[in-house]
Amino acid sequence: MKVYYYDNQSGDQRLPHDSGETLTPSDLLNLGVLSYHFPNVDDPTAINDLASSRSYKNRDVITVSPDAMGDIYEDKVKGFFHEHLHEDEEIRYILDGAGYFDCRAKDEKWVRILLEKGDLIVMPAGIYHRFTTDENNVSGYLLLGVFYFLSYSFFLLSSLSPLSFFTSCKYKRRVRLIC
Ligand SMILES: [Fe+2]
Repeated sequence: MKVYYYDNQSGDQRLPHDSGETLTPSDLLNLGVLSYHFPNVDDPTAINDLASSRSYKNRDVITVSPDAMGDIYEDKVKGFFHEHLHEDEEIRYILDGAGYFDCRAKDEKWVRILLEKGDLIVMPAGIYHRFTTDENNVSGYLLLGVFYFLSYSFFLLSSLSPLSFFTSCKYKRRVRLIC
């Protein structure tokens, strides 16, 4: 895991955009972001313990890549990079590849978090954030949650935007908007 301020330069979102201003896990903690590293992705013990302690009941394994998603990959990756927030925590454990999570610091600057295999991040409810794969275009991760009524996989592979998915669902009062 590497944490730094985003450089705000133009260019593909999947580039590092490293400003050179490095941050630490304790800086993340000040934003309410929890970070862990569980190197053995084949051993669920640490994940089970965390899920139990924080009441995460649901899990979904997601692969974001051109091979897994086909023609919709580019549109989806651009969609994930739209700034948004949730009413619940967002928890990701990287199983394969890598990705960048950006979140807003208290001064509104973007903080970029490079997540690699074995890294786990807990974004607190209410923090503005966005996600992208890196230049290798592969990110496989475990999504944990307190309660997701419908499978995230369905949303991810559907042609609906997050908002239209949310508003089109007759169970919308119970669906968490996740991406
Ligand atoms: Fe999100």
